[in-house]
Amino acid sequence: MLHGMSEMLCELSGMDQFVFQAGGGADAAYVNAVTTRAYHADRGELEQRNEIITTIQTHPCNAATAAAAGFKVITLMLGEDGYPPLEALEAAVSERTAGMMIGNPDDMGIYNPQIKQWVDLVHDAGGLCFYDHANFNGVMSKLRARELGFDACMFMLHKTFAAPFGGGGPAVGAYGCSAALEPYMPRPLVRSEGGSFSLEDIDQAPKSVGRVREYWGNVPQIVKAYSWTRSMGAEGIRFASDLSVLSNNYMEKRLLEIPGLSISHPDIKSRRLEMTRYSLGKLQEDTGVTVFDIQNRMVDFGVDAPWLSHEPWLVPEPITPEAGETWPIEDLDYWIDVLAHVCREAYEDPEIVKTAPHSQAIGPVDGSRINEPDQWATTWRAYKRKHGDRLKERTGS
Ligand SMILES: Cc1ncc(COP(=O)(O)O)c(C=O)c1O
Repeated sequence: MLHGMSEMLCELSGMDQFVFQAGGGADAAYVNAVTTRAYHADRGELEQRNEIITTIQTHPCNAATAAAAGFKVITLMLGEDGYPPLEALEAAVSERTAGMMIGNPDDMGIYNPQIKQWVDLVHDAGGLCFYDHANFNGVMSKLRARELGFDACMFMLHKTFAAPFGGGGPAVGAYGCSAALEPYMPRPLVRSEGGSFSLEDIDQAPKSVGRVREYWGNVPQIVKAYSWTRSMGAEGIRFASDLSVLSNNYMEKRLLEIPGLSISHPDIKSRRLEMTRYSLGKLQEDTGVTVFDIQNRMVDFGVDAPWLSHEPWLVPEPITPEAGETWPIEDLDYWIDVLAHVCREAYEDPEIVKTAPHSQAIGPVDGSRINEPDQWATTWRAYKRKHGDRLKERTGS
């Protein structure tokens, strides 16, 4: 199944090999950062090539994992078409370029049609190109990363391939690359020859970055994704892609009728594909109600709260719902009706929104502490490390 899943993703992307070890999209971006590092180190160019280029609307895990792998990060800002101008990339590439890590469509739903020229520019400078395919639904079966020239890409099996997204995982970041990068990617890999399968582990791949996580990764999720891909087939996947774009555009038309809500960057005319970023800045200005309040109130009506935006926010009070292809139109309409209702409440009775949720097992959670590491610890061991003195005072040991 692992081998079959890799083959199907190779078909969809044009890459030569996939590995499923990464525990999510950000982890797969990290796989790319360390694979890029191993590639340049092997060629004796790592000291010289220490820069990774990304864009402000590419998911920040790309910049973060490049930095974690020791690279300096260059972030390109948006131009008037909704993506950075080609000249900005021309100015950024040099003999120091190790690679580019980019998402397309980006996190506002805008597709950069110059992407092939971008890849060529980075290649001409000697860098590698990585396609963050988290936003794959709108383009799946319409383009292949390798044909655009990319050396590597990642898919999120929990975002596109039917493994559940919500609840914090478990997830899978499927990382795929060209034959030239294959020696460096994590191991083990499944090899197939003459109808039988074998394992290629680290001892047979001396240039491999080794493991980034446990052995196979989250196998049950791969089984779900494998089943989904086999049952959809090529035609089904193409249809799902069309449907995700149609659903998003349907939602966009209705959502823009809600007072207080606007599309992000209204002056940009590029069409949004499978998701659209909106701003509730006007509603917040008029009523004092924030996007966090809106999220908390929406769950009272039994729907998922909308995703907001990655940091840094480029528009005030952002929300970025993703219709996807699996919701029937009745569910889309209900979700839109809920948001319209909550926005109306914000104008007529803001307190009911600000004090939400009202029908959940827990009340609103104070999110401000997340920016104060002294205030939290994710494990008991981390708590003891941070607050050892206080614990001793209280318990005497
Ligand atoms: C474009 C993009 N890249 C990467 C990620 C990170 O994926 P994960 O949350 O699985 O680590 C996300 C998350 O939604 C994303 O939208």
